[in-house]
Amino acid sequence: MSQTITVIRGDGIGPEIMDATLHVLDAMDLGLSYEDADAGLAALEKHGELLPAATLDSIRRNKVALKSPLTTPVGEGFSSINVALRRHFDLYANVRPARSYPNTLARFPGDVDVITVRENTEGAYIGEGQAITEDGETATLVQKVTRRGSDRIVRYAFELARSTGRKKVTVVHKANILKTTSGLFLKVAREVAAQYPDIECNEMIVDNCCMQLVMRPEQFDIIVTTNLFGDIISDLCAGLIGGLGLIPGANIGHEVAIFEAVHGTAPDIAGQGKANPGALLLGAAQMLDHIGKPDQAERLRKAIVATLEAKDSLTPDLGGSGSTMDYTRAIASRL
Ligand code: NAI
Repeated sequence: MSQTITVIRGDGIGPEIMDATLHVLDAMDLGLSYEDADAGLAALEKHGELLPAATLDSIRRNKVALKSPLTTPVGEGFSSINVALRRHFDLYANVRPARSYPNTLARFPGDVDVITVRENTEGAYIGEGQAITEDGETATLVQKVTRRGSDRIVRYAFELARSTGRKKVTVVHKANILKTTSGLFLKVAREVAAQYPDIECNEMIVDNCCMQLVMRPEQFDIIVTTNLFGDIISDLCAGLIGGLGLIPGANIGHEVAIFEAVHGTAPDIAGQGKANPGALLLGAAQMLDHIGKPDQAERLRKAIVATLEAKDSLTPDLGGSGSTMDYTRAIASRL
């Protein structure tokens, strides 16, 4: 049966990397069909709003979306369209795999294969209680962590470990200082971990975790953590493996899932045909896993790795001089 995917082409380099990604998916002949929906600046120009109701309807109907990066205009009174989408569909798990690939500009020769599972709806990103005193001297912000939110994200990480044959989950926190929020997260994580005796679990304070990731990344398998820490740690992992063009992100809820690249709209290179489509392609591979096509997901990942190994038409961020479409065709030829 044909599966329909909501496709959001996005802003900046978004349309270029989406064209590339759909080119490769079409070459795989998976029987997917696409429904275009607008969000971000493109939607503002066309429909006068950043996140039209028709886009939300399309995602709700199809339950799966592939999304390019979006620009959130500054000063529009809209904090972030991405945060809005995550909260609207309660996409509580943000899954960001980082692994070493051959022939990247990574500073460290690689032994990295770590998945960050980041809580996506709570913590410091709830947008509540943001206030600055009239004299501009004091700023405050409310963080919120719930038992329910902690339980479901930690459980997601352990279930992911089981379903992917991974062996270890590291719970990252700052419970020594943030005694209420991080403290509750850690307490719940310990309770959940006890229900998964087959998976090794350890705990690490976030600052130590950052150092350990740089010194000995091979000790990590799956990291589960709260929203802000997960955002930072996953970018650290991106840096370890050679940049943002190599990390996808899945935003998973009970009903809906949205797959994307972790990077932004890259306005500095937009329209120049040199963006690396790799992160969105890897997001498409996560999507194929999610819709029950793991063999096809692996086929796509292997084609990307083989293209990197052959150094065929790599884009400039990877040290090559290929265009987005040269690199895309090189990947498609190795499927
Ligand atoms: P960015 O990720 O767009 O760019 C950072 C640097 O990485 C730039 O030098 C860019 O050229 C490079 N880069 C990013 N993706 C690349 C790719 N695929 N190939 C080659 N080089 C790449 O981050 P920045 O500049 O902070 O944000 C730009 C815009 O993107 C902002 O409007 C921001 O709000 C938006 N953004 C959207 C996200 C999303 O929709 N998921 C996530 C992050 C930022």
